Amino acid sequence: MLATLPTRYTAPMPDLVIRDAKVSDAGRIMQLVNALALRQVMLPRSPASVIEHIRDFVIAELDGQFVGCGSLHIVWSDMAEIRSIAVDPDVQRDGIGRRMAEHLIEVARQLEVPKVYAFTYVPGFFEKLGFHVVQHQELPHKMFNDCKNCPKFTACDEIAMIRVLREPTDAEREAGSSLPSRPIRIG
Ligand SMILES: CC(C)(COP(=O)(O)OP(=O)(O)OC[C@H]1O[C@@H](n2cnc3c(N)ncnc32)[C@H](O)[C@@H]1OP(=O)(O)O)[C@@H](O)C(=O)NCCC(=O)NCCS
Repeated sequence: MLATLPTRYTAPMPDLVIRDAKVSDAGRIMQLVNALALRQVMLPRSPASVIEHIRDFVIAELDGQFVGCGSLHIVWSDMAEIRSIAVDPDVQRDGIGRRMAEHLIEVARQLEVPKVYAFTYVPGFFEKLGFHVVQHQELPHKMFNDCKNCPKFTACDEIAMIRVLREPTDAEREAGSSLPSRPIRIG
């Protein structure tokens, strides 16, 4: 994809920068994610879903070139989801995905989110980052918010994985157990 990159890089990569995404990155994010989605290794993203959630995204740049993206989406008071994490195939398995995921996990910690999860076809990557497999039913907010609109809802083949960053407080546990209620009427 980025054929101009000269060689494979080995960790540590001093020239690797993980930074917050800007709206001007949306095109590159979509290009990478949707190219990988065509290979059936992740789900595609629409322009609207990338642009509306651009503040969720981080970008990986190697020597100033875009080489990856990933996002952390707050789903509920006790949970965030790592979504659309993707590395340019030319530089995969060189530690870039790990650096982005660790960055996103640190963001979750700073936001005091107790649990981070992912729906994935690459459980081995998330296992290396301290995630373990859970049943989809253990993530009711994901199912309530996203899965119900997904064409694969009744035949989901993604693996749900979670990493507990800290034990939730009793209040968080209670809030986490309630599903979003009906929309609040305004006006
Ligand atoms: C999955 C992906 C983001 C990982 O990024 P990466 O930069 O290639 O991975 P890293 O080099 O940071 O790997 C970190 C660790 O996970 C392991 N790993 C990476 N990909 C793996 C895979 N597909 N299966 C098993 N282990 C994997 C690596 O061996 C490494 O282990 P180590 O620390 O013991 O050496 C990247 O390969 C990618 O974009 N894949 C296609 C899109 C995709 O599947 N995204 C996930 C959607 S949820």
